[in-house]
Amino acid sequence: MRKSLVSIDDLTTADIKEIFKYATSFSKNPQSNHLKGKIISLLFFEPSSRTFSSFSAAVKRSGGQTIEYQNPGETSSLKKGETFEDMIKVFGVYSDAIVMRHPVAGSAKVASDVAGTQIINAGDGVGEHPTQALLDGFTIFSKHKKINNLKGLIVGDLKNGRTVHSLLRLFSKFKNNEIWLLSIKGLSMEPTELESYKQKGLKINLIYKETDIPKDLDFWYWTRIQTERLGNKKIKNTFILRNELIHKSAGKRTLFMHPLPRVGEISEEVDSDPRAMYLSEQLKNGVYVRMAIFKWIFK
Ligand code: CP
Repeated sequence: MRKSLVSIDDLTTADIKEIFKYATSFSKNPQSNHLKGKIISLLFFEPSSRTFSSFSAAVKRSGGQTIEYQNPGETSSLKKGETFEDMIKVFGVYSDAIVMRHPVAGSAKVASDVAGTQIINAGDGVGEHPTQALLDGFTIFSKHKKINNLKGLIVGDLKNGRTVHSLLRLFSKFKNNEIWLLSIKGLSMEPTELESYKQKGLKINLIYKETDIPKDLDFWYWTRIQTERLGNKKIKNTFILRNELIHKSAGKRTLFMHPLPRVGEISEEVDSDPRAMYLSEQLKNGVYVRMAIFKWIFK
């Protein structure tokens, strides 16, 4: 049995390719019984629509069952003073794996250290969101038939966006990927983090205006401002994905992506563009990739 999936760095390139292979198979037939007899706990300490529901669907489509907890800080015995560690140990006994979302970066690692079962990180504060990066990477892979030699743009809150942190880790694992980062003022990536990706061989270009976006990239990946991480600070979103920008700089095969939720940074006029992935392929692949992750974990 595999270890926990806390970070993209828990995976080798062979692991990622194996998960993509399983996801390809589930995209053709999303019914399986590889979780037959297994119970998966979903513990979500932060709000979620897609990750919670697609994990729930993935377990059920794989023949397993779930224990589902949204907002356990209010609805579990944590409210009576039980420690986080004790809670994780308890659910580790009741279930074969725990999928956990939590507002504190590093909490998934803490859980994996005490749980008697695997932890799958469904987002830990500003830390990582590895299963989102896998479904995003798989979406690109299934459209462009490669996960190396890619050129892509990532836009938005690069400081607090955990999806971006996991995605750059994923691209760093494969050869000749080149990324342009366009961040909202005040929300650029920490220099030490940038340096860590560069040292792994990822080519990174920092740009500051839309007119610096190179033409014909393989994908554009937009993200929202993580207002829940900013306290009282107000930061204005300056970059909106819209048809005018697409006509100027996108290519015929540029994929338009977003992990969602969007809060105004993609104009609805883009939704019907066949290159828009965020309300179609990314949602479907969320289920296939999560089915694949369970298959990989319990192999
Ligand atoms: N992409 C994502 O994590 O969405 P939710 O917050 O709705 O799960």
